[in-house]
Amino acid sequence: MREEIEQLRTFFLKELQETGTSLELEQLKVKYLGKKGSVQALLQGLKGASPEERPQIGKWVNSLKEEIEAHCVNTLARLQRAEMFAAFEKEWIDPTLPGRRPWVGRAHPLTQMLHRVVEILVGMGFSVRLGPDVETDYYNFEGLNFPPDHPARDMQDTFYLGEGLLLRTHTSNVQVRVMEREKPPLRVVAPGRAFRNEDVSSRSHIFFHQVEGFSLDRNLTCVDLLATLRTFLHRFLGEECKMRVRPSYFPFVEPGMEIDMECRRCAGKGCRLCKESGWLEVLGAGMIHPNVLKNCGVDPEVFSGYAWGMGIERLAMLHYDISDIRLFTENDMRFLEQFSGV
Ligand code: PHE
Repeated sequence: MREEIEQLRTFFLKELQETGTSLELEQLKVKYLGKKGSVQALLQGLKGASPEERPQIGKWVNSLKEEIEAHCVNTLARLQRAEMFAAFEKEWIDPTLPGRRPWVGRAHPLTQMLHRVVEILVGMGFSVRLGPDVETDYYNFEGLNFPPDHPARDMQDTFYLGEGLLLRTHTSNVQVRVMEREKPPLRVVAPGRAFRNEDVSSRSHIFFHQVEGFSLDRNLTCVDLLATLRTFLHRFLGEECKMRVRPSYFPFVEPGMEIDMECRRCAGKGCRLCKESGWLEVLGAGMIHPNVLKNCGVDPEVFSGYAWGMGIERLAMLHYDISDIRLFTENDMRFLEQFSGV
């Protein structure tokens, strides 16, 4: 028995020497230590031995088994290391290749635009107030001096939610909400979302973002309004940007006006973007109507106010030269990735 064991050890060591790969080694290990392997076969031989011999033979077999195991572990480590280096040689890695960048989150282009607008106005002494998206008829229309039959109140233009509620069609609701609660002097900027029941197209969407600005104080005039808007627009679009004022109508302001900026794409010469006029409409504005002040418990003989509202999508489209408003809501990474701000 002793001899058989010694012989097996010699065979194993010889075969081990001839083993060149980790795969071969695995096979060798199975051959000797597996369930049907040679060491197991030796143990079968124990049956033929006398009870006195058995413990001694058992010891020999066990120590052979341990020896083989230790050889296998060491040799496997050596072979795997060698194989790894061989693979490095073969599959050469170029460490100078640029790494793959992880996706980095950043603010949506409209959020970036909103932040810029608000930051400039806060720098001019305005402070932020927010109003609800779901609004009552009073704050969206009646308080703002809309007559009951005004077309904006039509189901065609406004999303009514029932129970006297609607989705606000503009951020002007914040004017009434703030003026009825807070005492002048006021300088407020109110960013938010607005909703209109329009056909979705490259130019209009059912929801969009606006920034409302207004001020309430003694002796405010159109000059204050225009100086504020000019300062804002110059800081926002650049000093060289020319602005134009046109009379317009909104029920909650008197006089009402619209402000255009010179089209930057054609430098005022006229192009497709500005419909050959050289000007782009950017906002609506005016002096707050005395009826609105009265609705808020403010005496129009003592105080006056100005207000304006602008569409953020429109400003972003002009600023970045984006031709389709739907891009803002489609979450296409190829579009969003192009806006690198924070
Ligand atoms: N609320 C108006 C709109 O949605 C804009 C506006 C605001 C006009 C304030 C005048 C004064 O178009």
